[in-house]
Amino acid sequence: MKKLDLLYVGKAKKVYKTDDPKLCIFEYKDDATAFNGQKKGSFEGKGIINNQMANFIFKLLEKDGVKTHLVEELSPRETLVKRVDIIPLEVIVRNVAAGSFSKRYGVEEGREFVSPTLEFSYKNDELGDPLINDYQAIALGVATREDIEKISEIAFKVNESLKKIFLNIGIKLVDFKIELGRTLDGEIVLADEISPDTCRLWDKETNKKLDKDRFRLDLGEFGDVYNEVWKRLTEFYK
Ligand code: TMP
Ligand code: ASP
Repeated sequence: MKKLDLLYVGKAKKVYKTDDPKLCIFEYKDDATAFNGQKKGSFEGKGIINNQMANFIFKLLEKDGVKTHLVEELSPRETLVKRVDIIPLEVIVRNVAAGSFSKRYGVEEGREFVSPTLEFSYKNDELGDPLINDYQAIALGVATREDIEKISEIAFKVNESLKKIFLNIGIKLVDFKIELGRTLDGEIVLADEISPDTCRLWDKETNKKLDKDRFRLDLGEFGDVYNEVWKRLTEFYK
């Protein structure tokens, strides 16, 4: 499969066209950004870990019946995926209060919820990805009611699977963000990535943060914790 024109440059990856209009190639970079791109950093090998970890997790989710865009890992940094139209919503599920939820609602970080929450942000960097509710998303033509129902079903299913995957390696899944895309055949599938960039992961015993909050909050050991999560995953699931 040949990499052709650059289709899109994201904060943590580049997306290329291929000679098959139904497929594209992700190339993961070592870059990290936070606070809508205002804070920049990186560590060597981050792109390799995130590429491999996202694919590893997507394969486990597929086994649990979640449809994803994944086709094939091509190299340590590159993956062949189905070309999708990304639905411009960041879909966030939370099991434990943290981050913007704790701030917005004045809830102490670490409070376990009675049941998981679901929220949407409208993907728009200029506006800083504002929160949007289902009625607003439908009003704007971003998604239909049926799409929202499908997206919600996928989000909660991913939550249940991911919680188990991480619990097996001694990690509590605090929250995560996913993106959904529509394939050229019209099916809504899990797209983008799932990695410590897009999840809050706390060690089950110590509550140590094993995710991008180490970069966001300048806690140090940014690369070390990504390596730690990857090591635990590959050791448990080998
Ligand atoms: P938040 O508490 O900052 O709203 O983040 C909720 C979850 O979504 C957390 O796991 C981090 C993830 N996230 C992203 O993947 N990308 C983003 O741009 C933001 C703001 C959060
Ligand atoms: N990925 C987002 C950004 O660069 C924010 C975040 O993950 O905190 O701005």
